[in-house]
Amino acid sequence: MGERENAVPAVEEMTSVTTYADVAAVLNSLAVRQALHHDRALKQEFGPTPSDEFLGESLLSLHGDEHFNRRRLESRLFTKPSRAQLELDVVWPALHRLLQRSQGTSTDLMVFSRLVLIRVSGAVVGLAPIEDLETADRLRSLAEDMFLANGVRYLTENQDEITRRGLESRDAFRREFYAPAVRALTVQDAPDHGGLLSLLAEKPDTVSSEVMFREAILFLIASSTTTTNALPHAIWDAERWFARHPDERAAMSEFAFCRLIATEALRLHPPVPRLLRRSTEPMTLPSGLKLRAGEFLALDLISSSQDPDVFGEDAGEFNPLRALQKGVWPFGFAFGGGAHMCIGRTLVLGDGGTREDETEPQGLFPRFLRELYKAGMRLDAERSPTRREGTEKNEYVEFPVAFGTAA
Ligand code: HEM
Repeated sequence: MGERENAVPAVEEMTSVTTYADVAAVLNSLAVRQALHHDRALKQEFGPTPSDEFLGESLLSLHGDEHFNRRRLESRLFTKPSRAQLELDVVWPALHRLLQRSQGTSTDLMVFSRLVLIRVSGAVVGLAPIEDLETADRLRSLAEDMFLANGVRYLTENQDEITRRGLESRDAFRREFYAPAVRALTVQDAPDHGGLLSLLAEKPDTVSSEVMFREAILFLIASSTTTTNALPHAIWDAERWFARHPDERAAMSEFAFCRLIATEALRLHPPVPRLLRRSTEPMTLPSGLKLRAGEFLALDLISSSQDPDVFGEDAGEFNPLRALQKGVWPFGFAFGGGAHMCIGRTLVLGDGGTREDETEPQGLFPRFLRELYKAGMRLDAERSPTRREGTEKNEYVEFPVAFGTAA
């Protein structure tokens, strides 16, 4: 295969956008398009990208009206009743069962939370309900392989091996989970699992069958790994903060406080170090940085979410009680921003009008934190957490915790 004249520059060679105001301006601009996942225009110019195999023509790679229309349709998955169903009927019982079983034991929080949260992913996509640990673990491991392979550009080693495994897992996901769920949609009187597949099947003109498959992959990987990866960061940072503010620990019984912990941890530990974009017109950013048309941009989510002009001189530190300027996202750009801002944000954190009532959806992240602390979770004194190596992403591989009555 001949080399293309045009090539997308390596991430390190892209123009780095680092301040809060500049990143906000880029994300909110209509003259900027996705660049990690190529839309049609980028594909024509630069050819395919590794993530096309997983997310090509999915919501994340669309632009303009096409994106707006599909997003409007899929937002229905996140209405308050839908979020209540996912949080209260899918997550809460599974979380309780696992917490009961874990009393008095030490466990890896990564495995624990994945096993619960993968059920949400299955339900959002519209797969058959996941009843047993084995199935939950199988789907979790397929989702994780695809997640890693999709972000192969962030990896610093083993890229070929990870891509190969990701593709194998994609095919296994299709065979074992996706195809049976799609088949069920066509069988009269078969149970309708709802979710994305049911929504798209009602509007057959929206997407082709292959795009529907990749949309399912997007929702699966975007929902399953992100919250699981964010949880240990929140607990680690909160524990260090409680060591200096012991009186605040009791507030973990309140959803509102758990939400502050979750939000502050997301600000400091976004799921990816950068979002990639490409400008389609010349523009000048608030800092005075001038962009040419066609320039590739690496939006630095870490520095922009720790911008001292916005979050104060202690922006790099964990402080869930930090005072915020009006109009600033408390989680920085952990959920992105603008048209592609995470569609699952309110499922993760709840919405602004949430009351302190456990029978209402509070957000998966605050709910998880509250229930873990209520069950007396503490860091395992015998085993230290380990982090993933060979990636720029800041992720835990293992996060040992112990359950029992809190000391
Ligand atoms: C802590 C949890 C989560 C974090 C930190 C997170 C982060 C993000 C970020 C940064 C983006 C923007 C990507 C870009 O602009 O290039 C995004 C988009 C998206 N997220 Fe999330 N996410 C989380 C949970 C979820 C959940 C639970 C779901 C679904 C149930 C979900 C579904 C999506 C989808 C479908 C998009 C694409 C939206 C679009 O392109 O319009 N995410 N997420």
